[in-house]
Amino acid sequence: MRVALGNDHAGLPLRAVVIGLLESLGHELVDFGTDQGRPVDYPYFAARVARAVRDGEANLGVVICGTGIGSNITANKICGVYCALCNDVYSARMARSHNAANVIALGTRVIGPGLAEEILQVFLATEPSAEPRHVGRRELIGRLEAGDEELSRE
Ligand code: RB5
Repeated sequence: MRVALGNDHAGLPLRAVVIGLLESLGHELVDFGTDQGRPVDYPYFAARVARAVRDGEANLGVVICGTGIGSNITANKICGVYCALCNDVYSARMARSHNAANVIALGTRVIGPGLAEEILQVFLATEPSAEPRHVGRRELIGRLEAGDEELSRE
């Protein structure tokens, strides 16, 4: 599968881990991240990844910054992108299975390389659940995205 990657300067320590894992699993990397230590603004990188996923240039995306929070917020501004900040393996599995997240955010200053690798491995290996309750809830999010103001009043 094609996986888009974006990281800022703070995300550098996990960048190598993510690239190594993607390569070892045989995934194709679409690289939007910086490999420089010079401070850069995470919204540029996260937005590139999110647009690549939205436009079908990548199947899934990975965004990395210091906390993962800024990248997560940014990626979720792009319609059709469901980014989940995951600091543990359980959240990564649920983010894919229940929420059909198509981008994962990781924080270099929050988790270490070993855990990050496990989290990403599970995220990549888990398919969205086809159970009607989960599909239905995802459709509700889709309605919100489409501007359905009635949703919260039902
Ligand atoms: C950069 O210092 C840091 O603010 C950024 O990587 C990220 O953590 C923002 O959410």
